[in-house]
Parts: sequence; structure tokens; C-alpha cells
Amino acid sequence: MTTLAFDIYGTLIDTHGVRQALATLVGDKATAFSQLWRDKQLEYTFRRGLMRLHADFTVCTQQALAYTNAALQTGLSPDAQSHLMTLYKTLPAFADVATGLPVLQRDALTLYAFSNGNAEMVTGLLQHAGIDEHFQGVVSVQPVSSYKPDPAVYRYFLDQAQVSADEAWMVSSNPFDVMGAKSAGMRAIWVRRDASAVFDPWEITPDAEVASIAEIADIVKPR
Ligand code: LAC
Repeated sequence: MTTLAFDIYGTLIDTHGVRQALATLVGDKATAFSQLWRDKQLEYTFRRGLMRLHADFTVCTQQALAYTNAALQTGLSPDAQSHLMTLYKTLPAFADVATGLPVLQRDALTLYAFSNGNAEMVTGLLQHAGIDEHFQGVVSVQPVSSYKPDPAVYRYFLDQAQVSADEAWMVSSNPFDVMGAKSAGMRAIWVRRDASAVFDPWEITPDAEVASIAEIADIVKPR
């Protein structure tokens, strides 16, 4: 069965959806804050993976928030930080997601959410966005105690979804995730909503590139 593994943060769910709340808290530093928070969150997952010092994705997110607050000297109180962490549980989906997923459903593909986030957080986000019904299940990397792009987490996904690598497609806006999946033998689609996004110039390239979720139907045909 042809299977699609959807990345969550940054691909289906907009990690910059907190910008409005940030604007009221940190004013014109909101965009820079949101970007550094996200970049540090990912850096912490990479570093924890390498150090074999696993902590839940929520911990990485919270520690990245504290780092960003200190680095940008925004003086957010513990309460304000805790408010932002709560908002992170209800981040919005990108505009093309709710219309795109049903198109893929018609093509009788199996869809999974596959994320660094823990299963509870990811399930909550999908439910909040009203898109949970499209997925066969949520696969979190958490039981592997590692993070993308460790090949072990992609192998874990294949195991959980009971699919072979050549029938499984990673769908991600995060180039490191596309590259990790390809390196682990999967196929991969890069979701490039923003034409100015740059793919890392390594020896690994995506099998396809789309600007919205519905376009995936033109690329992946069920077997
Ligand atoms: C995820 C990270 C890559 O959702 O944002 O897995």
C-alpha cells in the first residue's frame, strides 16, 4: 500500500502561528523571535540526537523559548512563556491543508502523521485543526529516543506503518527531513510553499516538489 508520512511542524502546522501573540508580547521582535525559537528548537533536537541525551520535543521547544527570550532580551516572564507554550498546542494548519488532504483521500493512499512531536501533542494539533480524520495514525519518534534525521526514526516509521521504504513517501517542508527520509531509502516530496525557500545543496534531492498539499495527488499514484 502506498503510504504518505506527513511531517507536522512546519509542513501541515504553521510553527509561526504564534506570531500574533508574540507581537503583543515582544512588539517588532515577533518575527525574529518566532524564527529563532523554531531554529533553536530544531538545533536542540539535532544536538540531543547526537549526544544521545533524549528529552521530549516539548522540552526542546520550552528550552528553545527560554534561549530565545534571553538572546533577544525580550524579558518574557515565566507566565508569558507558559502562555506561549500553551498556544503551541493549538498552532494552526497552513491554509492549503484542510482542502488538500481530502484530495489525497480520494486517491486511496494511506496517510500518517510522522513527527518529532509526542503523540499527544500531534494528535491534539490535528484535532484542533479538524484534520485528524484523514490519518490512519500518528507515529511519533519518541519511542526511539532520537529525532529526525536519525535513520532509526525513519526505520521506526516504516515498521509502525508496516510498509516498505519504496512504497513510503515522506512529505515535508523541512529539507533536513526530506534528506533524512531519502537517505533512509524512502521517497520524499518537498513542500515548498514559499518560492524563496532554499533546499540544502547536498548530494540528496527530493523526488518532487509541490507548492501545496493537493498537488501531491499528481505525483503519488496508489499502487
Ligand atoms: C516534526 C518536526 C520536523 O514535526 O518539526 O517532526
